[in-house]
Amino acid sequence: MADNIEKLLGELQAGNATIRSMNETLEQRVRERTAALEAANHELEAANHELEAFSYSVSHDLRAPLRALDGFSHLLAEDPDSQVSPQGRQFLERIRASSQKMGLLIDDLLSLARVSRQELKCVPVDLSAQAGEIRSALEEQAPERKVDWHIAENLSARGDPVLLKTLLDNLLRNAWKFTAERPDARIEITLCTMGGGKVFCVRDNGAGFEMAYADKLFKPFQRLHDAKRFEGTGIGLAIVYRILRRHGGRVWAEGSPGQGASFYFTLP
Ligand SMILES: Nc1ncnc2c1ncn2[C@@H]1O[C@H](COP(=O)(O)OP(=O)(O)OP(=O)(O)O)[C@@H](O)[C@H]1O
Ligand SMILES: [Mg+2]
Repeated sequence: MADNIEKLLGELQAGNATIRSMNETLEQRVRERTAALEAANHELEAANHELEAFSYSVSHDLRAPLRALDGFSHLLAEDPDSQVSPQGRQFLERIRASSQKMGLLIDDLLSLARVSRQELKCVPVDLSAQAGEIRSALEEQAPERKVDWHIAENLSARGDPVLLKTLLDNLLRNAWKFTAERPDARIEITLCTMGGGKVFCVRDNGAGFEMAYADKLFKPFQRLHDAKRFEGTGIGLAIVYRILRRHGGRVWAEGSPGQGASFYFTLP
């Protein structure tokens, strides 16, 4: 009997030792995998930084030759001794228009790169006040437009005040632009609860868009509307996306053609 108990005890101890050693091996593996993941993450971050620095300097360096192109074609078109034919003058004008367009694209690329490079200074921000300032600026630019605004009171968040204003500016400017054809335009910014979390919502009753393309909107230079009807280069929402990513927030959109659009975003 005593022998049996001793044997059983011995087996139990051996079993325990095996479990302990398996546990240790498992923990060791988890530690190794975590370290490998962290290293890969660091590498990705560094690669990302390098890519952003690269696109920043490329955009920066492209500006000087572009200015020369614009400046010299202007001089040639204006020079009375240049003997350029009327058709040649038209070509020169087209060169100028193209170089100016490229200048705008470069400016947009630079502002996109700047969002990622700029250091975040997080403080409490009054989003209602910022939205009010943007509304006033838009109304000043086009006083003839009648828009029914609804800016909820006490919208607040913690984040970088400059970047959050840029974010609101892009969303509200879009709402303003895409309601331009409506005599009863309405733009609102509110806070709602979704899935137990706080979500900010910028909504308009403008041109709207096809839901099938909702994810495309946040990629640089993606536009769903004709540039002749609604001007723009398609960089605003890519900036919005990056600002929220930097703050650890999220953004998504809902819309329907002719019915308007809603842009939702969260901030931690
Ligand atoms: N409020 C909105 N209603 C309908 N469509 C929208 C709205 N906001 C954005 N979009 C669609 O998403 C596209 C991308 O928006 P984004 O702000 O990035 O570019 P943009 O306004 O065209 O140009 P930019 O902001 O660079 O001046 C728009 O061209 C439009 O097709
Ligand atoms: Mg825009």
